[in-house]
Amino acid sequence: MAVERTLSIIKPDATRRNLTGAINAKFEAAGLRIVAQKRLWLSRAQAEAFYAVHAQRPFYNDLCNFMISGPVVVQVLQGENAVLANRDVMGATNPANAAAGTIRKEFAESIEANSVHGSDSAENAAIEIAFFFSGIEIVG
Ligand code: CMP
Repeated sequence: MAVERTLSIIKPDATRRNLTGAINAKFEAAGLRIVAQKRLWLSRAQAEAFYAVHAQRPFYNDLCNFMISGPVVVQVLQGENAVLANRDVMGATNPANAAAGTIRKEFAESIEANSVHGSDSAENAAIEIAFFFSGIEIVG
């Protein structure tokens, strides 16, 4: 197994309900270390650029509107197989399909307001981490 890093975002539905600490506790209980973290209010241009891969999807505009509706917390999580470990602890994209004990099962409001984002591959993790963080901001 390899130590990896992945990009996590605690979304506006979760910051609005003051769930940052509860969600971080889930990451830490899953063996992930928060090696970088900052709270931001994304601009529309930033949200559109981050989710550019979804630009052709019917939910893109609503997704971008949601992501700029309040603060987010962007994070780098580090650990063994961090990309997969984070996806496991997040649960399915749609909270209706998420397993018991996962972040989305416990906290998500809907498929859009689903509390957290996590990179879907090591390649995308590297791209997404570089979108928000410079090297000196990540302390492993
Ligand atoms: P995320 O992991 O941030 O990546 C894209 C986001 O689009 C996803 O989580 C969901 O919050 C959001 N989304 C909204 N509607 C849909 C949908 N129908 N299918 C997949 N993702 C959706």
